[in-house]
Amino acid sequence: MASSWLAQAVAVVLLLGSLPVPAAATDMLQSGFLYDWGFYGLWPRTWFQSSDLAGPRLNFLAWDEACAEGFYLFSPRGSYVSHSSPVILDARGNLVWTTSDRFGDAQDTTDFKIQNYHGQPHITFWAGNNGASHRYGMGSYYMLDETYQVVKVVEAVETRGHNLRGDIHEFHITPQDTALMTIYYPQPANLSAVGGPSNGWVLDSIFQEVDLDTGDLLFEWRASEHIPVSDSMRSYVGSDLGGSPTAGFDYFHINSVDKDHLGNYIISARHSHQIVCISPQGETLWILGGKSNMFQDLSDGRATDFTWQHHARWHGNNTLSMFDNAKTNTGGRKYAEDHSRGLVLTLDTQALTAAVLHDYYDPQHPKQAESQGSMQMTDLGSNVLVDYGFYPAVTEFSKEGNVLCDVRLAPWLIWKTGMVTSYRGFKTSRWIGRPWYNPVTSLTPSDGVIYVSWNGATEVASWVLQGSDWSGISDGVWQDLDVQAKDGFEASFDLTDDMPQYLRVAAVDKDGALLKASQVVDRFLCRLELMT
Ligand SMILES: *[C@@H]1O[C@H](CO)[C@@H](O)[C@H](O)[C@H]1NC(C)=O
Ligand SMILES: *[C@@H]1O[C@H](CO)[C@@H](O)[C@H](O)[C@H]1NC(C)=O
Repeated sequence: MASSWLAQAVAVVLLLGSLPVPAAATDMLQSGFLYDWGFYGLWPRTWFQSSDLAGPRLNFLAWDEACAEGFYLFSPRGSYVSHSSPVILDARGNLVWTTSDRFGDAQDTTDFKIQNYHGQPHITFWAGNNGASHRYGMGSYYMLDETYQVVKVVEAVETRGHNLRGDIHEFHITPQDTALMTIYYPQPANLSAVGGPSNGWVLDSIFQEVDLDTGDLLFEWRASEHIPVSDSMRSYVGSDLGGSPTAGFDYFHINSVDKDHLGNYIISARHSHQIVCISPQGETLWILGGKSNMFQDLSDGRATDFTWQHHARWHGNNTLSMFDNAKTNTGGRKYAEDHSRGLVLTLDTQALTAAVLHDYYDPQHPKQAESQGSMQMTDLGSNVLVDYGFYPAVTEFSKEGNVLCDVRLAPWLIWKTGMVTSYRGFKTSRWIGRPWYNPVTSLTPSDGVIYVSWNGATEVASWVLQGSDWSGISDGVWQDLDVQAKDGFEASFDLTDDMPQYLRVAAVDKDGALLKASQVVDRFLCRLELMT
């Protein structure tokens, strides 16, 4: 019964293709059911006239004015996402910026966020390949400035003759303009403690700290030298892992690196359910969670029973946050709840006690993400953003834990398929985009409409359609024909017969200053590459 119903639903989806989707967030609330059943496609996106770019169409199941500020940062990926790329959306889901660049032929991008370098916000992300043959990310970390030009490509540093490549999980810039990055590499290991061969292999978890200005390696740490294989929560027996360099046992699985004000490193390891603190000299200072947990749990076990967790961040004041996947059935210890959660802990690292300060989950729509995910204390008020990783969805909470906005990047129908996932998702108020290129227009004379967009520009308050009877004129003598407040990625103007032959669209900021104008188009000949 259920499967024939599902088959019918899929058939209807295929027949109808994609319905037009309401654009504004408030309309999206009403389309929630159709969206979730795939009626707008399995990977719903918004397409434009003036650009070949497309942005994900979000579905808001809950909406509150308290999350109306800031930008979403995603890099959707998965088996159905043919071109994974970083995407900025505004708080209502309108596309702000994305790119069709391949960044060195990368098939995958992750960990897109805004980070300061030399005091200036930069776009940063990982791009590379996360192939089935090697089971880990091999790529580079890209840094773009506010004009959207690549200003740096950061690579892992080769050590011990090992050709190390940057992995998907982390690229974190410290206040000292150093970068912390994760790396995976096969390493011979004695696996007898977990039932494997004594001459087996692990997939080692490495992190490096490099000086961003010089590229010099400042610190390197390898899990295989500090954490025993027996700490793993991933079952070895019955799997085909560990027998060869290309199938090393991924016993630790590092997925985040942070640094506290004393210079200690705080890392998260998914497969051992551990947060490990490492001194600048490389000593293990403490371990929270997992088999070698050193902390007394002051919250009835709920501070230390996180499993398969991601994105551990240190916030000063002995506060640690993470995304607790809380997945039960893959060899870890039993966790009582049926949902992933954003978790904030208070640690006393002298007395070695841990207590839950907050945990964030949506009781009405509990989600249990088996992999990936992030938990961010945003720079927007005290809101918290939880990204469910394998499930392409984010929830924005008030600090107290009330659900403000519940947002989906792809229909619920495909959540368990991995077709569209979101390794991490962030929100920021700190981005100003000033593209080096001009706004673009599209004009088909027979339509009598001109479309305009300017990928990545965040300071445009209004669009001004301007005209002239002569193509060679300077900026000063364009005649304003029409004006529109910017609302969304693209705008359009209807043309009338009395308008001049040459047209352009100017982008104007909130003070009325011209930012940049599109190229001039001849409304009879369409686009002309004119000297202006
Ligand atoms: C492998 O480790 C086991 C203990 O887990 C030990 O008894 C054995 O001697 C080790 N083998 C080698 C070759 O080091
Ligand atoms: C640390 O806690 C104190 C007391 O609660 C608070 O005043 C201060 O702002 C906190 N500092 C940070 C960095 O959170």
